[in-house]
Amino acid sequence: MNDSERNPADPARIAALEHKITRLEKINRALMSRVERSTNSIGDSYSMFVHNLTLQRHVEQQTRELQESNQRLQKALSDLQSAADQMIENEKLAALGSLVAGIAHEVNTPLGISVTAASHLEELTRTLSAHFAAGTMKKSDLAHFIGSGQEAAQIILANLARAENLIQNFKKIAVDQFSENWQTVELESCLKDIVVSLTPRLGKTKTKVSIQCPDTLRINTMPGALSQIFANLVANSLIHGFGEGQEGEIVIAAKVKKRGVVLTYADNGKGIPDKNLGKIFDPFFTTTRGKGGSGLGLHLVYNIVTRSLKGSITVRSKPGEGVKFTLFLPDCALIPDASPATAEER
Ligand SMILES: Nc1ncnc2c1ncn2[C@@H]1O[C@H](COP(=O)(O)OP(=O)(O)OP(=O)(O)O)[C@@H](O)[C@H]1O
Ligand SMILES: [Mg+2]
Repeated sequence: MNDSERNPADPARIAALEHKITRLEKINRALMSRVERSTNSIGDSYSMFVHNLTLQRHVEQQTRELQESNQRLQKALSDLQSAADQMIENEKLAALGSLVAGIAHEVNTPLGISVTAASHLEELTRTLSAHFAAGTMKKSDLAHFIGSGQEAAQIILANLARAENLIQNFKKIAVDQFSENWQTVELESCLKDIVVSLTPRLGKTKTKVSIQCPDTLRINTMPGALSQIFANLVANSLIHGFGEGQEGEIVIAAKVKKRGVVLTYADNGKGIPDKNLGKIFDPFFTTTRGKGGSGLGLHLVYNIVTRSLKGSITVRSKPGEGVKFTLFLPDCALIPDASPATAEER
C-alpha cells in the first residue's frame, strides 16, 4: 500500500491529480481544435466540390449553347453564300440586260436615221418616176433628185456604218476572241510593233510614244489582245486626252513583279474628272456621245485584261494631269534563272 492509497486527501496526491487534469484539458482542447479544423476543411472541400459541379454544369450548358449557335451560324453562312451566288447571277443577268438594252438604244439611233433617209430617198424616186412617166420631167427635177438623193445615200451609209461598228464592238465584248492565241513574245518588240501599227493614227498628230521595257523580257501572252488594249488606250489619248495640235506624250512601261508583269500606260493629256473616273470602264459611258464615241472602248479593254488575260486594270487621273492605267498580267514572265538582272527583280 502506497501513501496516496493510504491518504486520499494527501496534498501531494491532489497536486498530482490537478496537474493530470490540466494536461488532459490541454489535450482535449487541442483535439477539439483539430476536430474543428478538420470539420472546417471538410466544409471547404464540400463547398469547393459543389462549386466545381456548378461550374462544370455551367460550362456544359455554355458548350451546348455555343454548339447550337455555331450550327445556326453555319446555316446562316451557307444561306448567305447561296444568296451571294444568287446575287452574282442576278447581277450578271442585270449587267447583260443593261448591255443589251444599251446596244439596242445605241443601234436604234443610226438605224432610225437611216430609215428616215431611206424613206426620203424613196419619196424622191417616186416623184421623179411620176414626172418621168407623165413626160413632165424637167432638168431641174433630175438635178434635185441627184443632189438630195446623194445626200440621203450618204446619210444612210454613214449611219449603217455606225450601227455596224457598234455591233462589231458588241461582238468583241461578247466573244472571247483570243482564247486560243497564247504565244511567247519579247515584250519590248511586241510593244514596238503595236505602236508601229498605230502610226496611221499617230502620224497625223504630234504625239510622242516611248516604251520603257527590259529588252530581255519574254512573256507568255496573247499579242492580239495586247494590240487591242493599246489601240484603244492610244485612240482615247488622241481623242479625249490631247487637244488639237498638242504635243502629247505617251509612256508605256513594263516591269516584272514576282512572275507577273506590270504594264503602265500614261499620257499627259487633259485627264479625267473625279466624277467620271468610276464609270469609264462601264459599257456605253462616253463623254463624246453623238460625236463618234460609243463608250465601249474601255469596257472592251477591261474585259480583255480581266477575262482573256486573267489580269487586272486600274486607273489614276486628275484633270490637267493626264491619265495612268496600270495593268497587272499575272504569271506570264519567263525568267531565265541565270539572268542576274531579272533575278534582282524577282
Ligand atoms: N486618255 C484619256 N484622257 C481623257 N479622258 C479619257 C481618256 N481615256 C478615256 N477617257 C474618258 O473615258 C470615256 C470612256 O472611254 P471609252 O474608250 O470607253 O469610250 P469612248 O472613247 O468615248 O468611245 P469608244 O471608245 O467606244 O469609241 C471617254 O469618253 C472619256 O471621257
Ligand atoms: Mg475609246
